[in-house]
Amino acid sequence: MPANELGWVPPQELLEHARRAALSAYAPYSRFRVGAAVVAGGEIVLGCNVENASYGLSMCAERVAAFKAQSEGKGPLSQVAVSCIDADPEAGPEGRMPCGACRQVLAELAGPDTPVWVDGAGEFSVSQLLPSAFRLPRP
Ligand code: THU
Repeated sequence: MPANELGWVPPQELLEHARRAALSAYAPYSRFRVGAAVVAGGEIVLGCNVENASYGLSMCAERVAAFKAQSEGKGPLSQVAVSCIDADPEAGPEGRMPCGACRQVLAELAGPDTPVWVDGAGEFSVSQLLPSAFRLPRP
């Protein structure tokens, strides 16, 4: 789906896409639906969490979206939005934030200053979410 001609999607609009993506979640075990919307190469790419009966095989919404964008050749992520639509409305930000594994993947596929909007929690840069991310020198 194309972003606007500047390649910039207003945060509230990107969050709306993330909420919509969460409706496709396959989360029969946790019943906790998560959606992500990323902008890459002037396109919006969506992801949702996809669980498995073998729990450890489950995949988070953010990584689905990030890997989709990368695998479709769209280049680095320039904006990210995440929505945990089943989070308790009373829950604080902890119940809505990207997990550690997703932060490491964002550190790889987005820039340190890429904004991440977390529904109900605020705006963070990738480097705020994961300071001192693990990196390997490239041969
Ligand atoms: N989940 C995500 O999709 N993203 C996160 O950053 C945290 C957790 C999913 C994984 C699992 O399907 C459900 O939320 C409950 O942990």
